[in-house]
Amino acid sequence: MKKKLIVANWKMNSNFDEADDWTSKFVELRNKNYTAMQNVEAVVCPPSFLINNMDMQLLDNSFAEIEEFSKEAKTTIEEIPEEELTEIMAESIPFYIGAQDCHFENAGAFTGDLSAKMLSDMGARFAIVGHSERRKYHLENNEIVGKKAKSAFENDLTPIICVGENQETRSLRGHLEFIYKQLILSVPKGVKFNRLIIAYEPIWSIGTGVVPSAEEIHEMAELIRRVTESKIAESANEFVILYGGSVDEKNAAQILNIDNIDGLLVGGASLDVEKFMKICLS
Ligand code: PGA
Repeated sequence: MKKKLIVANWKMNSNFDEADDWTSKFVELRNKNYTAMQNVEAVVCPPSFLINNMDMQLLDNSFAEIEEFSKEAKTTIEEIPEEELTEIMAESIPFYIGAQDCHFENAGAFTGDLSAKMLSDMGARFAIVGHSERRKYHLENNEIVGKKAKSAFENDLTPIICVGENQETRSLRGHLEFIYKQLILSVPKGVKFNRLIIAYEPIWSIGTGVVPSAEEIHEMAELIRRVTESKIAESANEFVILYGGSVDEKNAAQILNIDNIDGLLVGGASLDVEKFMKICLS
């Protein structure tokens, strides 16, 4: 069974203590729901300054689990066969860490920016690119988003490329054409993705509590799959579609049930670890 991908986007929220508590609590809840969580791949995208610390905390957690295993098996860590060790390490990871954005150059005179390479070195495995808040407040267009996705991919980060129309475009019934264009222009050409993730996030739904109907999400997910598979990503080994916009623990299950939706991108509700876990278990 394909795992569902549940991504938390913390935006510009949290601090060292809060992130630490959130991670510990998530590990505890995940251990309680271990079997159900085998169907979930969770990713947390905190503000960049927290990435390294969270990565270290997850590493400590892995070591603790290896120690526990060696105690129970009455052996030393050195005696655990390498294959088994790799398996324990992989299973002990409660979630992967992602960045909320990245620059498209590896280094240079770009004050205030972080490159995909830097984020990857810090411990990130994913990078959101083209979020509507970046498009709006940092004037990032489709071409820039495409360059960021390419740089993420080249630096071992799986890009999560966001697309979404505003209220006006939808009221004028131009949403399908708009998303078609965003997809064609935001997904870089000539890149052989292992995994391509597209997040459909209608701007009118982000942070508003307004969620599109199941039919509206279904219509868009179908378009995204058709366009992406036929026009831009024949070479992706795996293609994943997320829905994002006012997802919470009450509506998650229903959205996950929609055809062609493989997971969720969660903003506000992801700051509350209990809610986020409920969403993962939906
Ligand atoms: P929201 O945000 O869940 O708070 O609506 C989603 C997002 O912007 O990724």
